[in-house]
Amino acid sequence: MIDIKRKIEEAKAEIKQNPGALFGILYPYVLIVIVIIGLYYVANIGNVAVNKAPAYVPDTPVQKDLQIVESRIVPPVDIFDLKEPTDELNQLGKELYSANCASCHNETGAGGGPASMGLNPAPRNLTSADGWKNGRSISGIYTTLEEGIEGGAMISYNFLTPKERISITHYLRTEFMQDPPVDSDNELAALNQLYNLSAGTEIPAQIPLSSSKEIILFEAAQITQEIEKTIDLIDKNRTKQGSKLFIYIVDNRKLAVSALLNSDIWRNDISNFVNFITINVNQNGFNGRVFNLIDKEWTLLYNYLNDII
Ligand code: HEC
Repeated sequence: MIDIKRKIEEAKAEIKQNPGALFGILYPYVLIVIVIIGLYYVANIGNVAVNKAPAYVPDTPVQKDLQIVESRIVPPVDIFDLKEPTDELNQLGKELYSANCASCHNETGAGGGPASMGLNPAPRNLTSADGWKNGRSISGIYTTLEEGIEGGAMISYNFLTPKERISITHYLRTEFMQDPPVDSDNELAALNQLYNLSAGTEIPAQIPLSSSKEIILFEAAQITQEIEKTIDLIDKNRTKQGSKLFIYIVDNRKLAVSALLNSDIWRNDISNFVNFITINVNQNGFNGRVFNLIDKEWTLLYNYLNDII
């Protein structure tokens, strides 16, 4: 005991005389602490990186696919006749709003509807005058419904007729806004001209991209099948003159059969047939031997291919 006490006293005396000695005594502990901090840092390097990235909310990506629209004629509307809200327009607007818009903008117009969760930017609070991009005038709102707003969840509602869109516009302005800006006649005339309102238009038929992809793939698969069937047939007919000639003048059978399948130009007239084959010899999978064929062989080949393709 006494020994330890003495040692401590000695150490204290030494530290007093030479303060640097303190570091020598504490050095192992300092080292251990540094190593532990280092290990902790390395183990959590992922979090460190994440925490350094600035917080930011990406714009909500919207999968915009086309709706099924049957081709139809949009009846012309006279915007000057419809520029004042009427009970009939407001009633129609209210029904359309509930069906198409309330899920995001809420029945109250204030935003925060059930489908608005997590949308960035958030659906506009239609009862406030703040932050509007196209504006609260009739032409502003009509433009929004025609074009949608780029980069967010507000899509184009151009599948509604102009009259339906004007009704919604009146409903928003009557129900949700105080003193909405009034359009000048010039603004209404410009809107009329921009979207051909008084001329009426034809809305072309459209189908969702997802379905059109399926149709294209289906058709492609059918064509591939057709090509393979034809090649098989030519193979089976190897002993026939026509088949022999075809094999003689073709380097790439798939290409040649698909070129023939995809075109009708060659079918009705033998000189068209000769042109068709000799013009794009290489692109269509044929080879230079086509130039050796004599008239009789051309006729044979023409009749044979007309038969099987
Ligand atoms: C899927 C959610 C959603 C639906 C449904 C929706 N909106 Fe929107 N709407 C938005 C979002 C999000 C914005 C904000 C867009 C922005 O600021 O980029 C917006 C903005 C607007 C604006 C403000 C335009 C401006 O000038 O800033 C109007 C007006 C509007 N919507 C009307 C409608 C009407 C009318 C309907 C129904 C026909 C509708 N919205 C349906 C999400 C929606």
